[in-house]
Amino acid sequence: MPSPLDRLTYAARQTARVAWYAGHYAAGRRLLKPMPKPDFPIGPTPGRAELTANMRALFEREWRDIEAGLFPAPRGLGPEPAEFLRRSLLYFRDLPQVDARRHGKLDDELPPGTQADGLPDYYRQNFHFQSDGWLSDHSAALYDTQVEVLFTGAADAMRRRALAPIATWLQGRNQRDVRGLDVGCGTGRLLASLHGAWPGMKLTGIDLSAPYLGEARRLIGRTARVKLEEAAAEALPFDDASLDLVVSSFLLHELPQEIRGAAIAEMARVAKPDGLVVIVDSIQKGDRPEWDGLLDLFPYYFHEPYYADYVTGSLESWGPATDLALVSCEHAFLSKVVALTRV
Ligand SMILES: C[S@@+](CC[C@H](N)C(=O)[O-])C[C@H]1O[C@@H](n2cnc3c(N)ncnc32)[C@H](O)[C@@H]1O
Repeated sequence: MPSPLDRLTYAARQTARVAWYAGHYAAGRRLLKPMPKPDFPIGPTPGRAELTANMRALFEREWRDIEAGLFPAPRGLGPEPAEFLRRSLLYFRDLPQVDARRHGKLDDELPPGTQADGLPDYYRQNFHFQSDGWLSDHSAALYDTQVEVLFTGAADAMRRRALAPIATWLQGRNQRDVRGLDVGCGTGRLLASLHGAWPGMKLTGIDLSAPYLGEARRLIGRTARVKLEEAAAEALPFDDASLDLVVSSFLLHELPQEIRGAAIAEMARVAKPDGLVVIVDSIQKGDRPEWDGLLDLFPYYFHEPYYADYVTGSLESWGPATDLALVSCEHAFLSKVVALTRV
């Protein structure tokens, strides 16, 4: 049972994160040249107060689950304070390049074949207008700051909502018997949270980016309980029905439609019957109709070539098109968390 001090520590940590990244967001807006207004129709958008209230509700929900004993309070995930500050500086130093790309002045930096030969063309792009796409140590060092700035400090909390359906599914199971996989684990934030909550699980993270996997290893540390491998979501290097748990966060909206379908089919293929698949990704059109305009604007301000297609679909119905049945769906601020079981 968490103590009042645990509650205070949790609240202080989340508040400090939100303030820190909201400060970055505000400073960034001053530094970036305004983009021309989009010349296509935009749906309704929420005001700042509504967004803030919704983000607060996300943290309150997490705390209620911690109090109920579903999973432990999150521990602070690295890096060390000096490195944390260095990354903040790197983020601001990189902003002019991001801005130049947003205004169409830095194109074709990642032409097919010149960097990362062997990787698919759809992957070799400057997603989010970020420098080097997914393809360098520099990009891997900046990614967590960029994402937290975008979500004003709530990105980790959204990822951690995956822990709620996992905790329910784990009841009556021994965590030491669980073999789990994070598909497109990136810099390892969700993997690190899973490992922190249930250190007995045997986990693997796969991703196409060697630099991002390197960052994940630094975050998680050397442990035989968490393996990291270079592999593609659409061709998972696991046998049929060999895994108890499959998770994935913020991957599917980055994939072209046919690769996304193949990735979901692969998650279904490798999951055991009664195994759990939990996907965290952006909300989609109609989830919160009064926020639909945000989904129109996002791919315009942040290079997201497949996002507009992703948001017109429905994560909840993609699973059942394979051998996955819907268990639960939670809207968590700007994300949703869909849990499915292999039938
Ligand atoms: C938006 S990031 C999400 C990373 C992480 N899951 C998170 O929550 O931050 C997308 C990640 O998916 C990886 N990725 C993109 N396409 C992939 C594919 N076809 N197979 C495996 N990884 C892929 C990228 O390298 C990147 O690390």
